[in-house]
Amino acid sequence: MKDSFGREIHYLRVSLTDRCNFRCVYCMPAKGNFYAPLPHLLTDAELIRLIRIAATIGFDRIRLTGGEPTIRPNLVNIVQGIAEIPGIKEIAMTTNAVKLEQIAEPLARVGLKRVNISIDTLDAERFHKMTRFGQLDQVWRGILAAERAGLKPIKLNSVVVRGHNEEDIVDLARLTLEHEWDMRFIEVMPLGAIADFQMESVVPVAEMRLRIESALGKLEPLDWDGHNPARPHRLRGGLGTIGFISSVTEPFCAGCDRMRLNADGRLRLCLLRDNEVDLLAPLRAGASDDDLRELMQGGVWNKPWGHGLAEHVIAETRIMSQIGG
Ligand code: 5AD
Ligand code: SF4
Repeated sequence: MKDSFGREIHYLRVSLTDRCNFRCVYCMPAKGNFYAPLPHLLTDAELIRLIRIAATIGFDRIRLTGGEPTIRPNLVNIVQGIAEIPGIKEIAMTTNAVKLEQIAEPLARVGLKRVNISIDTLDAERFHKMTRFGQLDQVWRGILAAERAGLKPIKLNSVVVRGHNEEDIVDLARLTLEHEWDMRFIEVMPLGAIADFQMESVVPVAEMRLRIESALGKLEPLDWDGHNPARPHRLRGGLGTIGFISSVTEPFCAGCDRMRLNADGRLRLCLLRDNEVDLLAPLRAGASDDDLRELMQGGVWNKPWGHGLAEHVIAETRIMSQIGG
């Protein structure tokens, strides 16, 4: 289905929970409760029903996000349920990898195709500092487990934060020389309670590229479909690719093909704007599939063009962990 600007919208990011076992500095404030009461979150059956309806209007790719999606109870059953929905071509997940050692294999078996894993530095101490809880070796084991389970291609996400890890992107980029992994460097985006800190911490993609090329040589651009927010590049002789997600300094809204379903049943129309359509209340008030389908179609049609960062419009109602990136 097309939005009012003619963009084909067919990719749904589904947040399974607003909870997380990390508390990354660029995602959540150090203190405060950002978790909705559990009864306010979609149940497994409600979630599957909404995805089934979304599939009837053309959503064919699903990405599971959080918070941290792997801490959602019954995750394997949920993935299996989604895989059985007619029209769904691909299920992927974005995770911090903490639990992958245990569950990569069972998830792959029921139909999960691939994972994006967040890893912001290869320095254990700085990793712990950035995630506030994370153990780097556990994440590393998770990456290897995902690879063993055939969840390929593996994409690694690194949010680059001034004063935390801008020096570390060279080592991360170097991973692509030896591994068939797609490394993506992301400008920190401003949202909600920590927007000021996030804006002060942006490292522009142009600077990231310069740091990598000075240390490791030229990045060759590869073919690109125009929808992937990160145009892929390769280092000479590299097995994997390197990409940059420049939401702040070079927005890519023209190629946007996605919407988000938050764990509390709100369809979010743009990551960086507050516009949402509440599906939970009508669903619990007895709406029919047709009613819900119409609400979704309205949401797609009203998808905004362009986030408001250039005009200093910062989305305020949620932090990133409540949306799932
Ligand atoms: N800016 C950019 N990316 C972010 N993520 C979390 N918070 C931010 C932010 N403020 C990323 C995570 C993860 C994905 C879900 O979103 O690193 O890779
Ligand atoms: Fe959790 Fe991911 Fe946010 Fe880090 S970025 S706190 S792992 S949801």
